[in-house]
Amino acid sequence: MTNEKQLVGEKAAEFIQDGMTVGLGTGSTAYYFVLALAERIKNEGLKIVGVPTSIATAELAQEQGITIRSIDEVEQLDITVDGTDEFDDDLNGIKGGGGALLIEKIVANNSQEIIWIADHTKKVDQLGAFPLPVEVITEGSQQLLRYFEEKGYHPTLRLDSEGNPYVTDHKHYIIDLHLEKITHPYDLAEELIHLVGVVEHGLFLNRANKVIIAEDDAAQIITK
Ligand code: A5P
Repeated sequence: MTNEKQLVGEKAAEFIQDGMTVGLGTGSTAYYFVLALAERIKNEGLKIVGVPTSIATAELAQEQGITIRSIDEVEQLDITVDGTDEFDDDLNGIKGGGGALLIEKIVANNSQEIIWIADHTKKVDQLGAFPLPVEVITEGSQQLLRYFEEKGYHPTLRLDSEGNPYVTDHKHYIIDLHLEKITHPYDLAEELIHLVGVVEHGLFLNRANKVIIAEDDAAQIITK
């Protein structure tokens, strides 16, 4: 059986050119991109600077011998390759299932080009079946949970494997909103980002330039 995540990760590595500064996404699909990029660096001697979107990706990139810099150490990124939890026909998406949405969004906002890599399950007609992650500061998170409950957003505080609140790389909590359908993503994004205590949300709207998706055992490119 085809490993779809590996297929699209390797395809994305073909888009990287010598001298690029590259945003390195987070998650089980981005993992394969990082491996494939490291392979190209070793085999072809490419000079690449990687900007990781999480501590986990920074560790992986270092293990793989990729030169890394933080987002504050580079001026701009040429390209970012990242996974996504869901995306629709407009290439709007939900990200943050792996908890790295904050730096993923900062890196995306500073990239000239953004490629998402996805197995076939990630394409949806309408966003929302995947719980929407909202990163919040810890203090006041209970108030935000109550607010979201009253709004009918069906929030849950994300927990780690031991049942404690999940803590992000930047020491925040994540509230997942179980919305099922997001009919007006731009309105929701606007509402969420203006709530005091919300650091960032996982709606990535009008950001990706292309998605590389696995379909029928082949990597297909969807462009905006
Ligand atoms: C990390 O915070 C996420 O945004 C991931 O990029 C996203 O959840 C996709 O992850 P997988 O590739 O593991 O499905």
